[in-house]
Amino acid sequence: MTLQNDVFLRALLREPTPYTPVWLMRQAGRYLPEYRATRARAGDFLTLCKTPELATEVTLQPIDRFGLDAAILFSDILTVPDAMGLGLYFAEGEGPKFQRPLRDEAAIQALAAPDPTVELRYVMDAVRSIRRALGGRVPLIGFSGSPFTLACYMVEGGGSDDFRHIKTMLYRRPDLLHRILDVTARAVTDYLNAQIEAGAQAVMIFDTWGGTLTPHAYREFSLAYIARIVAGLTREAEGRRVPSIVFTKGGGLWLEAIAECGADAVGVDWTVSLGEARRRVGDRVALQGNLDPAALLGDAEAVRREAVRVLEAFGPGPGHVFNLGHGISQHVDPDNVAVLVETVHAFRHRGD
Ligand code: CP3
Repeated sequence: MTLQNDVFLRALLREPTPYTPVWLMRQAGRYLPEYRATRARAGDFLTLCKTPELATEVTLQPIDRFGLDAAILFSDILTVPDAMGLGLYFAEGEGPKFQRPLRDEAAIQALAAPDPTVELRYVMDAVRSIRRALGGRVPLIGFSGSPFTLACYMVEGGGSDDFRHIKTMLYRRPDLLHRILDVTARAVTDYLNAQIEAGAQAVMIFDTWGGTLTPHAYREFSLAYIARIVAGLTREAEGRRVPSIVFTKGGGLWLEAIAECGADAVGVDWTVSLGEARRRVGDRVALQGNLDPAALLGDAEAVRREAVRVLEAFGPGPGHVFNLGHGISQHVDPDNVAVLVETVHAFRHRGD
C-alpha cells in the first residue's frame, strides 16, 4: 500500500515539506462526541483498547473529521505493566490504578518482560487493523510510555501528586528502581518493535513524569533507559526509515541531552519557545510541538493567533511537526481543532 501523505514522516527526518504537518496528542478522545459514542458501546475504556475493531474506529475518527497528517494507535501506555501482571483498572473518574503495585522486593525481582506478540496481541491486532482501515492515507504512529513514567504508575499504584513511593525508592533503594527500569526498558523495546513489525510507521516514547526529577536523576533514571530503547529499535520497515520521537514533559531545560539520545525528533511542551529550542538542538533533531493545550479553550481567533505564534517561533525551514505541548483536554470544542488544523495547513513562512 503506497503512502499518500508522507509529510509527517519527512518532517521528522528534517526533509523539506510543502506545509507543516500536524497531529495532536490524545487526538482520539472524550472531546469528540463520536468517541464518546463508541466508548459507550464498548462499555469502558479498557474494553475499547482491547477490542481491535473499536480501537480502529476511534483511531480514524479525528483523521476523518480534521484531515490530520498522522494517526496514532488508540491504546494506553499502561497496557505494558498490565501485561506484566499488575492488574490495570480504571476507577470511574479517578484515572488508572493497579491492583498489585510494585512495592516489595520479591515482586520486583519476579518482574519479567512480556512477549508482546502474546500478552499484547490485541495491540498488534489493532495496529494491523488500523493500517488496513487507513489504506495509506496517513502514517500510523505506535507508542509506549518511558520506563520511568511506567515505573511511576507501577510503584505508586496509580496517578500521584507527589510521587512519594517512587521517590522514596529512588533515594533509599535505587538498585530496586534500576531493576524495574531495566526490565521495563526491555519490555518497551520489544513492544515498540512488535508494533513496527505489525505496521507502525513511526514511534513515540511518552515520558510524562521525567520532568519531576532533578537534572541528575533525570539522566540516570529516565533518559539513560530511553536511549537504550532507541538504540534497540528497528530502524527500517517496508523500505522506509521508522522515525522515533521522544517527549519528556517538563524536559525543556534538558533539550540538549534529550537530543543526544538517538531519537529523530524531540517533543517539546509549551513552556519553551520553539525558536529557542531550535537554536539549541534544531540541527540534530526535528521538533514536535508545542501549542499550549489550553489555547484550544480560547475562541477561534485566539486559536489562530497562538498557532501562528508557534509556527513563527519555529521559523522557516524543515524539521517541525506541529502538535500540542501535551494532550488535548476533554473540554475542548472540536470546532476549534478544525480551526487549528486549517491554520497550520494554510500557513506559509515568509519566503517559502
Ligand atoms: O494520543 C492518542 O490519541 C492515542 C491514545 C492515548 C491515550 N493515552 C488514550 C487515553 C495515548 C498516547 C495515551 C498515553 C498515556 N496514557 C499517557 C502519556 C501521555 C500523557 O498524556 O502524558 C499517560 C500518562 C497515560 C495514562 C492515562 N490513561 C491516564 C493518566 C488516563 C486518565 C486521564 C484522563 O483524562 O482521565 C488515561 C486514560 C485515557 N487514555 C483516556 C484516553 C482517550 C481517557 C479514557 C476515557 O475514555 O475515559
